[in-house]
Amino acid sequence: MKAAGILTLIGCLVTGAESKIYTRCKLAKIFSRAGLDNYWGFSLGNWICMAYYESGYNTTAQRVLDDGSIDYGIFQINSFTWCRHGKLQENNHCHVACSALITDDLTDAIICARKIVKETQGMNYWQGWKKHCEGRDLSDWKKGCEVS
Ligand SMILES: *[C@@H]1O[C@H](CO)[C@@H](O)[C@H](O)[C@H]1NC(C)=O
Repeated sequence: MKAAGILTLIGCLVTGAESKIYTRCKLAKIFSRAGLDNYWGFSLGNWICMAYYESGYNTTAQRVLDDGSIDYGIFQINSFTWCRHGKLQENNHCHVACSALITDDLTDAIICARKIVKETQGMNYWQGWKKHCEGRDLSDWKKGCEVS
């Protein structure tokens, strides 16, 4: 009984450390609180739709690109320009370790995403957004969530 309980606990801890998949509405709330709604004129739906097509809301998502750089986290932010990955001399425009972009706490990822939108003047950085979200009616993405 006791042993089983401990094993369950360990199982939960390990799973928690592996990856966290946010629900759509939980993300909507976090994004809304972080002031993403209408940031640079992009409604909340744009952010939720973008995160879905970039990472499937998976905070630990990582993708290695052909040039050897890596896309990190819920917004798939690339190591070449935006974050610091190991010893490589990269641009690190967000002044953040890439590893900070794959934690459950989305603060650093959101700050960096805002910077990307500001520096690149829009959301074209995200292919998933361009392909699936840009110019569409995105109101359904926050439907049923407790956000205004
Ligand atoms: C989330 O991403 C990590 C890292 O790429 C992967 O190992 C994990 O399987 C993903 N989780 C889901 C549910 O897709």
